[in-house]
Parts: sequence; structure tokens; C-alpha cells
Amino acid sequence: MDGWVELLSCPACAAPMFRADTVVGCPTGHRFDIARQGHLNLLQRAAPLNADTPQMVAARARFLDAGHYRAISDAVLRQVSSARRIVEVGAGTGHHLARVLDQLPATTGLAVDISSAAARKAARAHPRMAAVVADTWQRLPLRDGSVDAVLCIFAPRNAAEFRRVLSPGGVVVVVSPNPGHLAQFREQHGLLGIEPDKARHLTDTMSQYLRASGGEQVQRRLPLDAEAARDLIAMGPNAFHNTPEAAPAVSAVLDVAVSVFTRTDEVP
Ligand SMILES: C[S@@+](CC[C@H](N)C(=O)[O-])C[C@H]1O[C@@H](n2cnc3c(N)ncnc32)[C@H](O)[C@@H]1O
Repeated sequence: MDGWVELLSCPACAAPMFRADTVVGCPTGHRFDIARQGHLNLLQRAAPLNADTPQMVAARARFLDAGHYRAISDAVLRQVSSARRIVEVGAGTGHHLARVLDQLPATTGLAVDISSAAARKAARAHPRMAAVVADTWQRLPLRDGSVDAVLCIFAPRNAAEFRRVLSPGGVVVVVSPNPGHLAQFREQHGLLGIEPDKARHLTDTMSQYLRASGGEQVQRRLPLDAEAARDLIAMGPNAFHNTPEAAPAVSAVLDVAVSVFTRTDEVP
């Protein structure tokens, strides 16, 4: 049996899922085909209009493959080095999860994203990673207590669901932008800002279900050539409105918080 299928529960009835050839199903009779591209669509409705588009996914893949956010993958790895089953929610291309799996040979990964373009890409990101289309704001199609770590990197967070799917002692690793993250770059290009209270909001919402248990700050200079600068704009939410034909080379600043929350026995 595939390690990743053992993590899944049916999006229609929450029963454990099993795999038969190219079909994943549950004992109640719900059936879902694994796509030719390798991902599994478990979304119970049409994808919303704000799901990342194939163009955004391609820009993100080029930007991340060039290594600009390697410091993020490295910091996440430091927090999950003993995890055997890791899910990344809002995983995009699956880049960070794949880098983590590279270093953890006994670990299985599952990338979850609402964008099927992203899931298609993530399905091929690593031999020990599978990819599922699902919505973080709904019940995640994962069994209770099925994973040791949930990664949530620049993506929506559902603390109640993260707690449900974590095994006891498991961790959520959240990567979120600090106010200084790409600040000048965002100003230059009229990109969306970062809410000033983001850090407190994160701790407040997560602490209702999990115990805050450390983390680290990651800051780096990011020298970006013109292609990387353009991809950085094209991979984000501004791409829905307007992506420039060209962007000048620039020295930007990566400034993010890596926050860890642990599932303890009691709800805090
Ligand atoms: C800023 S990207 C980050 C992707 C990846 N974590 C990374 O750092 O490269 C946010 C991702 O969250 C996904 N996303 C947005 N809303 C979501 C939702 N409700 N459920 C699942 N994924 C969602 C988007 O499709 C996109 O791939």
C-alpha cells in the first residue's frame, strides 16, 4: 500500500481511503481517479477563482528552483528532522517539501493545494511525495492523527484542522512574512502589503489549538536578476491583476518568521 494513501480520509464521508490501481476510494463507495499527471483531486466543488494559475505556478517554480528561498527550506527542515509523515498545505509547487524530503530518506510527504496546476507540479516534485487538490478551509482529507508535521508556508492556516490531523507531539511549522519582507521591492512595484499585526494574529489563532513552541527568524539579502524579479511578481497575488513585461534587477530582503506550534495532549 502507498504510504501517502494511508494518510487519506474520504472528503465525502471521512472514512479511511484505499487505493486500487489508479483509483482511490473508501468502503462507502466514493471513488476518485488519480490523474494522468499523478495528482488526486479531492476538492468537493469547483476551484475558486483565486487558486494559483499555471502561469503563477511556472513563475514560482523558476524562482524557487533558482534557490532564492533556500534559507526557508533549510529552516523548515531544522524543525521537522524527526518527522516520518509530513503534509504541506498550500504547498504550491511542493518545492520546500521536496527539499525537506531530500534530507529525510525515511519520510513520506503529501502536498495539498487548492490549485490543480500547483498539484500537478507537486506530484512530480519528489519520488516520496504525492499531491492532492483540497481546500485548507474545509475538512482536510486526512485521517485524525495521521501526520507528524504540517508545513504551512505563505499559505492559509486552519488551526483546528491542523491539530486534528497531527499525531500527539506533532508540530505545525508556519512560515510568514515579517513587515520588512521584500518591503522596498513591494513598494517599488505596488505589490500588496503585509498586515502590521500579522505575527500577533498568527499566535492568537494557532494558540487556540496548539502550543507555541519556538521557531526562528530568517533574514537574507536576495540579489535578484531581472528574470527573478519578474517571477517574484508573477508568482504572487498581484499576478491576477497585472504582471510587468520586465522588472529591473534589484537587491531585495527576505525577512520571515518560522513559527512552531506543537500538539500537546490538552487543548491549551
Ligand atoms: C503564496 S503560495 C505559497 C506556496 C508554497 N507554500 C511556497 O511557499 O512556495 C500560496 C499557495 O496556497 C494555495 N492556496 C490558497 N488558498 C488555499 C486554500 N484555501 N486551500 C489550499 N491551498 C490554498 C495557493 O494555490 C498557493 O499555491
